Amino acid sequence: MIPRMSTSPASPLADPAAPPPVNPRLALLNPYPFERLRTLTQGIVPNPDYRPISLGIGEPKHPAPKLVEDALMANLKGLSSYPATAGEPKLREAIAGWLQRRYALSLDPATQILPVNGSREALFALAQVVIDPSRPGATVVCPNPFYQIYEGAALLAGATPAFANSDPARNFAADWSQIDDATWARTQLLYVCSPGNPTGAVMPLPEWKTLFELSDRHGFVIASDECYSEIYFRDGPDAAPLSGLQAAVQLGRPDFRNLIAFTSLSKRSNVPGMRSGFVAGDAAWIKRFLLYRTYHGSAMSPLIQAASIAAWNDEAHVIENRAQYRAKFAAVTPLLAQVLDVALPDAGFYLWAAVPDGNDIGFAQGLLAQYNVGVLPGSLLARDAHGLNPGAGRIRLALVAGQAECLEAAHRIVSFAKQLKTSA
Ligand SMILES: Cc1ncc(COP(=O)(O)O)c(C=O)c1O
Repeated sequence: MIPRMSTSPASPLADPAAPPPVNPRLALLNPYPFERLRTLTQGIVPNPDYRPISLGIGEPKHPAPKLVEDALMANLKGLSSYPATAGEPKLREAIAGWLQRRYALSLDPATQILPVNGSREALFALAQVVIDPSRPGATVVCPNPFYQIYEGAALLAGATPAFANSDPARNFAADWSQIDDATWARTQLLYVCSPGNPTGAVMPLPEWKTLFELSDRHGFVIASDECYSEIYFRDGPDAAPLSGLQAAVQLGRPDFRNLIAFTSLSKRSNVPGMRSGFVAGDAAWIKRFLLYRTYHGSAMSPLIQAASIAAWNDEAHVIENRAQYRAKFAAVTPLLAQVLDVALPDAGFYLWAAVPDGNDIGFAQGLLAQYNVGVLPGSLLARDAHGLNPGAGRIRLALVAGQAECLEAAHRIVSFAKQLKTSA
């Protein structure tokens, strides 16, 4: 006898009037900062005497290198084949070569490196691989303020985010001591961002030592977001930002246990539209990540792989790019420092400035209305934690446009801040 299918009315799927099933975790996602900013600036008519300048979005604007464009064009035949999720060995070898030249690290391209379609998707996807939501209190620790993907990745994986606030008195380092032992014990994944967005702070070796010890004690994975590593402002032996991978080797962890680093071409090579980066580190996690990515369908296009090889193999365009940022920051920072509490960061392409009256949202609204300059209020990049919002009272300025435009924006900010101070 053929068993009859149950059409119990208790099943919403059996009820055509019931709403369709939807992942309830989607409702946990917070609106993205730019969406909140749009709401906060709705109805503001920017002063038409000034042409618009946006320092809001952190999108590189310098031209893409010709050698990358040429490699793309020369590999159009790649459109006709499916790529492997692990990427071409040639690409993984080019990345290994870059890691060797940049950090003096020897990674196995076959087991310790994986190409990704920009670091954003990979930062998100790793949480889906690491988090076991069936364990009570699954927790993901993030710096605060932070790149918003960390929180969304944690929530969609079934974990709860916990935040360590950035401390302005210690070069904006995250205060990991704010996370108590019980929370660390529940932690499955820790995101760190060095150089930091928005603060530009680079994590020094002692901070890595603390985090590795915590990871060993509690068994969590560290995701090290390093996508701004090639934009830095000082010269000298230790001027280039330290990678988590380098820190691991220096601290006697050559197997990179429980560590995955994320690196990207978007900022290094001015190709945010190419969607190309890589993850590197613990071979056991790379293997699990590859399995996940095979099903998720995140193989990199053959054209992008070819263009990425060209980009990783060339350093001249990176040096030139860095020089452009250095010139901009050297010109703009002292100007702004006349009126705002702001200093040259360790790295990255943001200034993280305190506004005179502590009202970051009001500052962004007024600046847009009077001078047609868009900036991102810092409070939108952070969450209330440990009694405060550590982004409040600051604005993030992305110096991504050309130098003349950034300088023009800086002059307008100076005028606006002076005006605010005299009217206070
Ligand atoms: C801190 C941080 N991590 C990761 C990313 C993602 O960059 P991409 O996906 O282009 O590699 C960004 C982009 O703005 C970022 O600011």
